[in-house]
Amino acid sequence: MNVLVISSSLRNGSNSEALADEFAKGSEEAGNNTEKISLKDKKLAFCTGCFSCLKTGRCCIKDDAFNIVGKMHDADVLVLASPIYYYGVSGQLKTLLDRANPLYDTDYRFKSIFLLLSAAENEEDTPDKAIRCIQGWVDCFERAHLEKTIFAGGVNERNEIAGHSALRKAYEAGKALGDGK
Ligand SMILES: Cc1cc2nc3c(=O)[nH]c(=O)nc-3n(C[C@H](O)[C@H](O)[C@H](O)COP(=O)(O)O)c2cc1C
Repeated sequence: MNVLVISSSLRNGSNSEALADEFAKGSEEAGNNTEKISLKDKKLAFCTGCFSCLKTGRCCIKDDAFNIVGKMHDADVLVLASPIYYYGVSGQLKTLLDRANPLYDTDYRFKSIFLLLSAAENEEDTPDKAIRCIQGWVDCFERAHLEKTIFAGGVNERNEIAGHSALRKAYEAGKALGDGK
């Protein structure tokens, strides 16, 4: 299986990226064709809503979204990692999902989507609005579903996630993926 892990935090020592790394490690060990992309070094402009993608099948903005969206199209499993910002996902992840509009109504492969989140707060409902945001995107891709969310709460400083139980959960979710084909 092709597994694409997208890490959207832009800071070094990122907590959500640590979840992404653990997921990728488990998935790789399970024999999946696993790729992790960080948005840290990518150029990603906002969607302008021109809808030219629905006519031409591709976005008219020439930046790094083109390659990333191509990889999203070919992935069997998408893994989206984000810090919680104001109870939603990061702006950079939302921007990428908007720019993935050319995938709408195509033969995209992904069926299963995982969401990895980190936040300073650790209340039961802390991740709820971020999950709803991603669920809204997933609902627009009818063959896909949100398989699982892994949430690391109570982590604010860089690398504070070290030793958090969510890291193990992320690793195990990756490891449990598919049959490695
Ligand atoms: C702009 C901004 C908004 C944030 N909003 C929230 C929030 O609404 N709730 C929360 O618990 N933490 C919030 N945080 C804290 C981050 O979610 C937390 O530090 C997280 O672990 C960062 O993940 P990262 O290291 O992967 O970037 C916010 C941080 C920033 C910079």
